[in-house]
Amino acid sequence: MKIVFDQVDKKFGIVNALKDISFEIDQGEFVFITGNSGAGKSTLLKLILNQLKPSSGKILLGDVDLSLGNKDDINNTRRKIGVVFQDYQLISDKTIEENIALILDIVNYPKEKIQSRIDQVIKEVNLGTRRFLFPSQLAGGELQRAALARALAIEPEVILADEPTGNLDPENSWNLVKLLKEINQKNNTTIIMTTHNNDIVESMGKRVIKLKEGELV
Ligand SMILES: Nc1ncnc2c1ncn2[C@@H]1O[C@H](COP(=O)(O)OP(=O)(O)OP(=O)(O)O)[C@@H](O)[C@H]1O
Ligand SMILES: [Mg+2]
Repeated sequence: MKIVFDQVDKKFGIVNALKDISFEIDQGEFVFITGNSGAGKSTLLKLILNQLKPSSGKILLGDVDLSLGNKDDINNTRRKIGVVFQDYQLISDKTIEENIALILDIVNYPKEKIQSRIDQVIKEVNLGTRRFLFPSQLAGGELQRAALARALAIEPEVILADEPTGNLDPENSWNLVKLLKEINQKNNTTIIMTTHNNDIVESMGKRVIKLKEGELV
């Protein structure tokens, strides 16, 4: 799906978190969103996820206008987006495999295909030996790969990754970015990743959307 922001503003009381933001991201692009803390990066991702509503302006996900679309259309669109966060957000009393099963259940993935889909994504992120463990038993790099497996499981058109390397050491950060790059190339999945890591941004040579105090630079 193509993602379009058209003159989007987001205010929180007197804080103007995003100001007059317009851009388009085509299906299959790999885009970094950069900017200092407080620049509005997470706010931008939350708007795409429809977790926040813009104060003004228009957001289109494919054919669906988030402010005009009906609930079903918006929910269906939301199900085409996988998310990865800095703090993983895995459910602590479920194993890695159960965490992935849960999301597949939520999106009504065909029951008879759930196990093979889990096997597939576990393999893609190389967590075969960790699948029956709980999040507390995994290292950070493994946790983030588990979170990526969960995002991937639903066969998303888009993956939003908010500072996914924020808690990882350099080696694990690179591994994760490499995986994202592979997914992008192999499946034509759009990847939108926020980061403070300039080394990664520079060496990847991908498009960068830079924010400064809520404005596009
Ligand atoms: N729910 C909220 N209520 C009030 N203000 C908010 C809310 N969410 C974000 N803000 C404000 O909006 C601005 C942008 O925040 P945002 O979290 O998008 O920044 P960010 O670029 O993701 O920063 P970081 O790099 O630290 O994650 C900040 O000034 C923040 O305080
Ligand atoms: Mg943020």
